[in-house]
Amino acid sequence: MAEEKKTTTAKKAVPKKTAAKKTTAKKAPAKKVAAKTTETKTVKKKAAAKTVTFRVKRGERWQEYDVAYDASTTVLSGLEQIKGDQDGSLTFRRSCRASICGSCGMKINDRSRLACKTKIKDMIEGMDHRNYQGRDVISIAPQGNQPVIKDLVVDITQLFNKVEAEEPYIKEGPERVEAKDKTAYEQVNAVSNCIMCGLCYSDCTELEVNDNFHGPAALAKAFRFVADPREGQKTDRLKKLSEKGGIWDCVRCGMCVDACPKGVAPMEAIGKLRHRAIEAGITNNRGAKHAIVFKDDIRNGGLLNEPMMLIKTTGLFGAIEQIPNALHLAKKGKVPSFFPEKIEGLDEVKRMFKVLEETELDVETKVLDEGPGAG
Ligand code: SF4
Ligand code: SF4
Ligand code: FES
Repeated sequence: MAEEKKTTTAKKAVPKKTAAKKTTAKKAPAKKVAAKTTETKTVKKKAAAKTVTFRVKRGERWQEYDVAYDASTTVLSGLEQIKGDQDGSLTFRRSCRASICGSCGMKINDRSRLACKTKIKDMIEGMDHRNYQGRDVISIAPQGNQPVIKDLVVDITQLFNKVEAEEPYIKEGPERVEAKDKTAYEQVNAVSNCIMCGLCYSDCTELEVNDNFHGPAALAKAFRFVADPREGQKTDRLKKLSEKGGIWDCVRCGMCVDACPKGVAPMEAIGKLRHRAIEAGITNNRGAKHAIVFKDDIRNGGLLNEPMMLIKTTGLFGAIEQIPNALHLAKKGKVPSFFPEKIEGLDEVKRMFKVLEETELDVETKVLDEGPGAG
C-alpha cells in the first residue's frame, strides 16, 4: 500500500507543462484529464485487487475462499468478507477488533494468533522479527487443545474452569504485607495484562498430552496472586500449585510465550512460581526433587547421574516402573552410567555455582509492559 501511495503521488506530481510537452497539440489536455481519472481508478482498483486464498478448516474438511486484501487488511476482515459476501455459514468469534476482548483467537498458519491483530500481508510476506516465513495460502483452523463447536469456534469452558480453579482473588491471611511502593506491583502488572484469549492454551505442548495440566493462562493467573503483596495465603497457593498438573508439569517449550499477544510470558511466570515454591521449602514432589538433584549432579561432577537421578526423583517404586523404558533405551545402546566421570574444568563449574549461591538471583519480570494498562 505504501508503495502504491508513493506511485500515486509521484504520478500526480508530474508538472503539467512537462506532461504536455510529451503529448501532441490541442487534444492533450482532454486526454490528460481522462488519463488522470483512469489512473485514480486504476490505483484504487489496484489497492483492492490483490487476492489471497484462505484455506479454512470446517469440521473434517478444508474449504478455500479467495479474499481481497491490501496492506492493512487483517485476517479477521478477510473472514468477515467471506461471511458477508461468499458464505454466511462460516462461523467464528470476534467482538472488539482491537486485540482487547480476546475472542478472535484461532490458528493462522499453524500458530495461534488473534485474527484481528494479524495482517494478511504479514502472513504472506513473513515477519523477520518473529522469525516467521510467509506463505502463499493462509490456513485458518480452530484453536488447539479444546473441543471444536463449529468451524473456528471452540469450547472455552475448560480454560475458564482452570483459571477459576486458581481462585483468582486476594485472600485474607497471615502472609499479607502492605506494599511500600509502586514497584511491589510490577510483577502483578505484567501478568494482569492477560485478556483470556486462550492462545497460550491452544499452543501448549504439555496440554496436548496431559488434560490435567492447569495450562499457561491459569498458572500465569496463579502467579499474579502469589506475587501480589496483599495476598495472605501465598505458601498455601504454592503448595497446591506444586501438586500433579501444576507448575512442575510444564515442559518449558516456550510456545506460550511466543503465542501471547500481551507479553504475559506464562512460562516465565511458571519459572518464578517454581523458584518461590522451592524457596518456601515445598520440595516433597517429583518436580522439585528433579530440579534439586539436577543442580547437585552438575555442581558435583558436571554431568548427570541419570539412573540415580531417576531413583532420587521418583523413589524406588517409580524407578521400577521405568524398567521397560530403560530396557528399550539399552536396546538402542543408550545405557547411562551409575558412575559418570567428572568433567574437565569442574573447578570452573564449582566457581560458577559459588557465585550464583552468593548472589541473590533476580528471577523477577523484566518484560516490557505493553498491555492495555501500560504507561
Ligand atoms: S512452556 Fe509450559 S506452559 Fe508454556 S506452552 Fe510450553 S509446556 Fe505449556
Ligand atoms: S496469557 Fe496471553 S495468550 Fe494466554 S490467555 Fe492470557 S493473554 Fe492470551
Ligand atoms: S476481536 Fe477482540 S481480540 Fe480480536
